[in-house]
Amino acid sequence: MLGSVRDFRRDSLGFLEDVARRYGDVARYRMAHMTWYQVNHPDGVRRILQQHNHNYGKGTLTKGVLGPIAGEGLFTSEGENWLRQRRLMQPVFHRRRVAAFGELMTGATLAMLDRWEPSVEAGTSIDLSTEMARLTLDIATETLFSSHVGEEPDVIAKAVTTLIEDVSFRFEVPYYPPTRVPTPYNRRVRGALRTLDRAVYRIIEERRRGGGGDDLLALLMDARDEETGEAMSDEQLRDEVITLFIAGHETTANALAWTFYLLARNPEAGRRLQAELAGALGTNGSSRPPAVADLPQLPYTKMVVDETMRLYPPAWITNRQALADDEVLGYHIPAGAFVMISPYVIHRHPAYWQRPEKFDPERFSPEHPEDRPRYAYFPFGGGPRQCIGKDMALVEARLILATVAGRYRLRLVHDRAVEPEALATLRPRGGLPMIPESA
Ligand code: HEM
Repeated sequence: MLGSVRDFRRDSLGFLEDVARRYGDVARYRMAHMTWYQVNHPDGVRRILQQHNHNYGKGTLTKGVLGPIAGEGLFTSEGENWLRQRRLMQPVFHRRRVAAFGELMTGATLAMLDRWEPSVEAGTSIDLSTEMARLTLDIATETLFSSHVGEEPDVIAKAVTTLIEDVSFRFEVPYYPPTRVPTPYNRRVRGALRTLDRAVYRIIEERRRGGGGDDLLALLMDARDEETGEAMSDEQLRDEVITLFIAGHETTANALAWTFYLLARNPEAGRRLQAELAGALGTNGSSRPPAVADLPQLPYTKMVVDETMRLYPPAWITNRQALADDEVLGYHIPAGAFVMISPYVIHRHPAYWQRPEKFDPERFSPEHPEDRPRYAYFPFGGGPRQCIGKDMALVEARLILATVAGRYRLRLVHDRAVEPEALATLRPRGGLPMIPESA
């Protein structure tokens, strides 16, 4: 009756890798009433995300989980609605615009390092997973609302965290009654949604009255459709703000947590990173924090982040639902079927990566680019629905990494390997206790 549900639930990553190993480029299985086609070849991914993207919708599963929270935001909407919003929002996330947030990102990171001081002095550990989640949430709140959150930043942070946890919860317990059914748990989720709605609508209203703000919300409110001159409604703004919180915060936090984990386990890469940072920003004592303008001088920092997201892509699966019959790599995909694409599986596929398990930032060296198909590496997806926050996430991850590693080397408390926990995003299971030591 359940098909592969139990195997998938027991060990999602192991299941997906095993399917790719045993059945090749395209494999079909059933999970409860849904038929899935797992596509494990870069050319198949290209067809679904890019060439034939119009035949693959976001699907009932994604909409069922995210729709009640993110409404008609960019991640969940489709067709004309999506196209209009994407056109409106694309310029807001342009690389040039994103660079303006660099100082804020570094500032929030320095504030976190100050909070670490007592642990550094006492030689005690901190949980890197929790620290990165708090830091990226602070940055998301600041970039969206700057200082206009008033007295409520903690209330917003708590509500956003509850909603993100809910996405993971529904992933783990897919048959739990939908949010509209008033179970005690669902009531708590709806409470968080109401809190966030109230805060977001209040901030929008203040802005409509008083104007001002040079943050993402101001840019979204100023955006006009090129053809019709229309701006976003309050409801649309609310959906997008919540979407940006949910899509942007935990993904970036996990990318960073895994980066520090891999650097600690690969000391040679750690030393090379420290040397690059010392060369560009000065050595400890006379060093300065990094700015966006320094990033071109920090190629190894970028290679480290890219290689981390190969081994631990925060968005470890993407799914679609076929709207009409199609053929992928010679296999028939019937209308209504679900398609499973896993960057985690393809990023570790021995056909496209030599010694795939090895952490080796050199793979992304601009001097020795490895020859591989476009969709052998796609941590941000691809085609028209590629992550709109890609540049922002990369700038943020590189600035945070350079700021932290410029001051501290992080040592793992335990020697053993940390397992990934595959929920809404790929997290280090059980957290990541680490000890900061002066670099
Ligand atoms: C390391 C960090 C991040 C990763 C790995 C990531 C990954 C992804 C992926 C794989 C998709 C495509 C999903 C699909 O095809 O179904 C996506 C879409 C999206 N991401 Fe990100 N993301 C990250 C950070 C961000 C940030 C910082 C923001 C915003 C501030 C953001 C906002 C979005 C939005 C709005 C979409 C939907 C785009 C659309 O459908 O038009 N993401 N992301």
